[in-house]
Amino acid sequence: MRKSIDELVDVDNEGTVAREIFVDDELFEQELEHIFGRAWLFVGHIGLVPNPNDYFQSRMGTDPVILTRDKAGDIHVLLNTCTHRGMKLCRSDQGNTRTFTCPYHGWSFSTDGRLVSRPGGLYGVPGFEKHYHSELDKQKWGLIPVPRVEVYKGTVWASWDIGAPSLLDYLGDMRLYLDYALDYRDGRPDGAEVIGGVQKWRVNANWKMIPENFIGDLYHDVSHRSVDAVGIGPSGKGRRDKFGNRVTLCFPQHGHGVIGQLPFYEEYEGVSGTWGDSPEAREYHEHVHRSRVQRFGDRMRVAMSVGTIFPSMSFHGRQPRTIAWVHPLSATETEMWRIFLVDRDAPDTVKDEARRYYMRYSGPGGMTESDDMENWSYATRASTGWRSRQLHFNYQMGLGHARPVPGLAHAVENGEYNEENARAFYRRWSQFMNASSWKEIPMPDGTGSELVTDSEARQ
Ligand code: FES
Ligand SMILES: [Fe+2]
Repeated sequence: MRKSIDELVDVDNEGTVAREIFVDDELFEQELEHIFGRAWLFVGHIGLVPNPNDYFQSRMGTDPVILTRDKAGDIHVLLNTCTHRGMKLCRSDQGNTRTFTCPYHGWSFSTDGRLVSRPGGLYGVPGFEKHYHSELDKQKWGLIPVPRVEVYKGTVWASWDIGAPSLLDYLGDMRLYLDYALDYRDGRPDGAEVIGGVQKWRVNANWKMIPENFIGDLYHDVSHRSVDAVGIGPSGKGRRDKFGNRVTLCFPQHGHGVIGQLPFYEEYEGVSGTWGDSPEAREYHEHVHRSRVQRFGDRMRVAMSVGTIFPSMSFHGRQPRTIAWVHPLSATETEMWRIFLVDRDAPDTVKDEARRYYMRYSGPGGMTESDDMENWSYATRASTGWRSRQLHFNYQMGLGHARPVPGLAHAVENGEYNEENARAFYRRWSQFMNASSWKEIPMPDGTGSELVTDSEARQ
């Protein structure tokens, strides 16, 4: 008989998670509904659709969706399947169009809400008068819109569940760490732009292993020893510049977590990262540091290197500075997508040094990411056997030693090396899997602390 979710995930007493949840097809199907059908999912960045009528093809779980910007500039997310007989409507990765015309029988759907009742509405039907006798209800057969869409500092999020909390409630104080990646390096709000294209590749691994790694696995440093030895970092040492006082810190009631700094009140060198040795890059870095000292004064701020927003969006905030999100394909196959961020107004030299570093580090050809992919795919494969799938993974490190974080709502930290964040991720996973609707998924009270960058935004 199938085990219950609570039997599979016991992160609070035993500190274990059954391998079954990484390889089982039925549980995978349940995840599509309970996790990907409910959570706020990152679907793209507005930098991928900068102009009116631009679109970008994305996914929510295994469903293809189209992120569009309409003629008036508003953002929408539409299910990418023709309502007539299911043809995948848009098959280009991205582009610009006012209408999506289905290649099968020619129905067309408008992204301009002024031409039709709403964006995605059915616009043109070949033979509408002659074959359908004008009787087809066009209002009813438009593309399916994703009902909840929110844009936060350029990042676009969507949820299928109208009962989901607001995105800001969903993020809680994890938003502070996201701000660090999305704001200008000098602390001005909302300054990141997407540089280059979108890297997309497949990994033969269960999707959860990827956000689990990014949520706070410092213990696997040994995997990257060769990259550290080569010295691919911007300053030629290690895989990135050293960044003191790291902890793993998480928001157990939200399921998010980071490797980063506890809130601090005085700027220190290196928070914004250094970028190579060119005089222009050095001058830029010094300027950023001076600006941050002036801007933040003695107010609270945070910094981070990598984190995960439950369930499937992970981001690096400093070196590299990127967003990676995962699309599950099956229990044992996942597609990873990655976009790369730079300050919009950084000098070209700085952007170019960042671009070259990102390629050395990330993606299927990046030296660091390829180490990780090997771990995830072999761990999945070595858990699919009749005997191996009966075992449990061990998440016992630091169990019972978490402490609250002063300054942040609902956060705990557990020092540098521990598995607190992974436990928070799987605890949240169980809550989603056990619940029959959003009403049964616990949420903490309040939206979190007053944020430094918000007060900047109001100035
Ligand atoms: S499937 Fe799209 S028009 Fe028929
Ligand atoms: Fe890694």
